[in-house]
Amino acid sequence: MKIPKIIACIAALSLFPVSSAFAAPSSIVGDVNMDGTVNISDGVVLARYLHGNISFTRDQFELADVNKDDSADSLDLAQLKYIITANSGRMPVGTWVIPGTAEDYFYFDGNGNVTVTHTYDTPITNAPAGTVTENTITFEDGKLIMTDENQNTECTISWVNSSRFDITYKNGIRLPVIYYGSEPLVYDQLLNGMWISDSGRSYGITGVYGYYFEAGGDNGIKFNYKKDFNRLTFHFDNGDGDANAFITAVDSMHIDLTWDDGRVERLTKQNIETIDGVTYVNGILIANKTYDLPSTYAPNGILPDAQAAFNEMQAAARKDGLSLTICSGYRSYTYQRDLYNSYVNRDGKAKADTYSARPGHSEHQTGLAMDINMAGDAFNNTPEAKWLAAHCAEYGFIIRYPQGKQDITGYKYESWHVRYLGKELAREVTDSGLTLEEFLCIDSAYKY
Ligand code: DAL
Ligand code: ZN
Repeated sequence: MKIPKIIACIAALSLFPVSSAFAAPSSIVGDVNMDGTVNISDGVVLARYLHGNISFTRDQFELADVNKDDSADSLDLAQLKYIITANSGRMPVGTWVIPGTAEDYFYFDGNGNVTVTHTYDTPITNAPAGTVTENTITFEDGKLIMTDENQNTECTISWVNSSRFDITYKNGIRLPVIYYGSEPLVYDQLLNGMWISDSGRSYGITGVYGYYFEAGGDNGIKFNYKKDFNRLTFHFDNGDGDANAFITAVDSMHIDLTWDDGRVERLTKQNIETIDGVTYVNGILIANKTYDLPSTYAPNGILPDAQAAFNEMQAAARKDGLSLTICSGYRSYTYQRDLYNSYVNRDGKAKADTYSARPGHSEHQTGLAMDINMAGDAFNNTPEAKWLAAHCAEYGFIIRYPQGKQDITGYKYESWHVRYLGKELAREVTDSGLTLEEFLCIDSAYKY
C-alpha cells in the first residue's frame, strides 16, 4: 500500500475577529456587489449608485449603509474606502489549505507566525512530505509577504474573497488557498501507521492524511482529517464528504472510532516489518505458522529479559508453595527440525502439525518462549498450571496457545507454553482475552 505523507501544527489569534472576517458573503458590510469580498469594485458600485446610474436591492442598500445611519450616501463611500485600504493588509487567521495535489496546510496565528504542514514533497519550498516549517507573514509596501525562514522562499498573498486568497511565489507560480477552519490543524500521533479494521478495511495514516482500502480492494480512498479534542472529522476524497468519528484509545495497539451513525469500528495497529528475515508486528517478534525464522536465527538461549522475568515468577510461585521450572526453553532450528520429524514419524504429519512447530516456525527458537514443568496434557489443571494462568501476565508472559483457539493459533491447547512479551503488553493481551494472533490481527497458517 502506498501511503503519501503529511504532518501538522498549532496556535492562536487575529487582527480581525474571526466572526467578521469569515461571515457569510452577503452579510459583509460594504460588500455591495455581494461577491464575498470588500474591495475597490464595491467602491465603484457604490459611487455609481450615488450618481444615480444604478439602483440597489434592499440587501445592497443595507450593505452600503456602512455607518448604519439608515441611508446610503457619500459618508458611507468615504468609510468604505477606508475599509478597503485596511483590508488589503488583512492578515489571514486560522487554518488554510492549498487544495488539490499540493495540499499544504497553513496555520496563521494572527501575530505574524505561520505554521506550514506539508502533505506532499513540496517542490517550491523544497519541504518533504510530513514536515512542518515555521513561516512569518508581514505587511510591507501594501503587500502581504510570507517568508519561509528555513527555505528562504518568499511569496505574496492577495485576497480573492473572504475565504480565499492566492499565494504567488517569486517564480510566478500562483496557488489558491482556501479557508479550512479557525482551529489550528491538529492530528493525533496515535493514528500514525497501518491499521486493520474489524469492518475489513485497512487504513494507512500519516499525520492528517491517509488512505483506506476496502476488504480485498486495491483502490484506496484518500482522506484527510482534523482533530478537535477527541473528535475527528474525516474528509473523504471519493465524494462522500465529511464524516465525524470519536476516537477512543483501547490499549497500545487498538483504537475505536465511533462514527456519526453510531457504528463502532475497532482498528488494530499493524506495522509489519521484516528485519534480516525476522518478522516484527508493531515491534513484537513473531514466530508462528505464517511467519517463520531463518535457520540462522540463533540467540542460543533464553533472552536475558525473559530469563529474569521467569526467575521473578518462579520466586513468586515458590512463596505460594509451588515449584516452576523450565523444561524446554530455547530450541535451535536443527533441534526443532529433529523434534518435529520424530513426531511426524510417530504420529504422521497432520497430527504432528497440531502440537509441534515445523523448523523455523517454533517460538522456542526466539529465546522468548518456554515450557513450564512438563510439556503435556498432564500439566493441565494442576495447581502449577492454574497459578501460571492466573499470574504469568504479572511477570510479562502470556499463555500462548489457549484452550479453544486452535483454529487461530494453529496449535492445540498448551497450558505449559508461555511467551514473554514484557509486563505491559502481556497485561494488555491477557486483559483483551485474545490470542496474540487476534490481538495483532495476524494469522497462523502454513503456506506449504
Ligand atoms: N509446541 C510448540 C507449538 C512448538 O513446537 O513450538
Ligand atoms: Zn513450547
